[in-house]
Amino acid sequence: MSIVLDGKATSNQIKEELAVQVTEIKNAGKRPPHLAAVLVGNDGASLTYVGSKVRSCERIGYDSTLIKLEDTITQEALINTIDKLNNDPLLDGFIVQLPLPKHIDEEAVLHAIEPSKDVDGFHPTNFGKMALGMETFIPATPFGIMELLKRYALNISGKHAVVIGRSHIVGRPMSILLSEKGNPGNATVTLTHSRTQNLAAITKEADIIVSALGVPNFVTADMVKQDAIIIDVGITRVPDANHPKGYVIVGDVAYDEVKDKASYITPVPGGVGPMTIAMLLQNTMLAYQRNQN
Ligand code: GUN
Repeated sequence: MSIVLDGKATSNQIKEELAVQVTEIKNAGKRPPHLAAVLVGNDGASLTYVGSKVRSCERIGYDSTLIKLEDTITQEALINTIDKLNNDPLLDGFIVQLPLPKHIDEEAVLHAIEPSKDVDGFHPTNFGKMALGMETFIPATPFGIMELLKRYALNISGKHAVVIGRSHIVGRPMSILLSEKGNPGNATVTLTHSRTQNLAAITKEADIIVSALGVPNFVTADMVKQDAIIIDVGITRVPDANHPKGYVIVGDVAYDEVKDKASYITPVPGGVGPMTIAMLLQNTMLAYQRNQN
């Protein structure tokens, strides 16, 4: 029997803590934190995620701005929009939702974001600071996973953590944070990816697995050690005619068979996803506090 790591409840708790801070800010006669999100095109999943981010802002009393741009926008025009946001003194932080249309160079766009407003923590300056253990904006998904481990008081010190997937947004920063000095942290980390040989032999040795691959039900019970901690970052939309939306969200982990072997496990949905939003809001509070000082 495993214990479910309830990301929804934990994220609600974090949002409540932030809402208390916002009330204090407003009672002191100051403006609240302000987050903007730039969405290019009409990708269904991106619309859902950005919508959730904006609604969460409103719920806790932040100002929020959604900037929707056509998917035909030029890279130059997008970077001009980013420049305006960089120079808006009443905006604390913003994100450019990924992925971007193919004709736009993602790296050029992310590098155009002023690091002090880069609440996603994707700019090389912030990523570098994160890798050096300096205070900065930590990418929200791995930050959310660290916070979940912390709030459930799970000790991973000296344990073997296996991360599946080396994306710049999740896998790579996750591998750095898990190995960093601190609690949670101090893990011995293996970062695996599409070229890894004998993946199952490696995951079977893991005390904690973080899967950020985007392949539904990839991690099966035979790949998991008894009592491992299982963190599922996958959120793939799988067509399902029986569901009113026409799809269901499926994680990387074959939950029903893995849950009986794991000590702790995140569900999909309701695990890592809501934590990502909470940590983006936390990063925005940090940007606001820096902006006020
Ligand atoms: N697309 C998927 N995850 C993220 C994220 O954390 N931030 C942004 N900007 N885009 C994403």
